[in-house]
Amino acid sequence: MAEELVISSNADRRTQYSDLLTQLKGLTSGEDNQTANLANVAAALRQTFGFFWVGFYLVEQNELVLGPFQGDIACTRIQKGRGVCGSAWATEAVQVVPDVDAYPGHIACSSASRSEVVVPIVNKQGDVVAVLDVDSDQLDDFSPADVEGLTDIGRWIGPALFL
Ligand code: SME
Repeated sequence: MAEELVISSNADRRTQYSDLLTQLKGLTSGEDNQTANLANVAAALRQTFGFFWVGFYLVEQNELVLGPFQGDIACTRIQKGRGVCGSAWATEAVQVVPDVDAYPGHIACSSASRSEVVVPIVNKQGDVVAVLDVDSDQLDDFSPADVEGLTDIGRWIGPALFL
């Protein structure tokens, strides 16, 4: 398999996200291993947008456990309701944090992380099964186009990659 990601850096951000989603569908369609697919989604997001950290935390019993990611080593377990990731799980809503230092209970896995977006991943049964955590080393680095694009990718991942 020789897969290559082709996203035009000249396109506007929304077009980049929609092109990326199209390519992710192709990239994962011939593969049914969830770890392999989530790993490539994390890599594709980081490769396309240069984010500081991109990865998944998977719901296991009553906590989130670190899954496939790209970036520095990270916290391995997060309780429901704790930090940005645990809040995305508990509230089932996308969390946008422009300044992690101003977020009560933020879990600082890396002191370089300054802003983040966390998208809950919901399966076909309507259960939160994971979260997609995207971190930047810049303050207030996520535009509405990023939030919409990441939300759309999360909406696809749930039914497509969590059976
Ligand atoms: N930022 C997360 C913790 C995970 S790491 O940043 C990779 C949080 O507060 O939930």
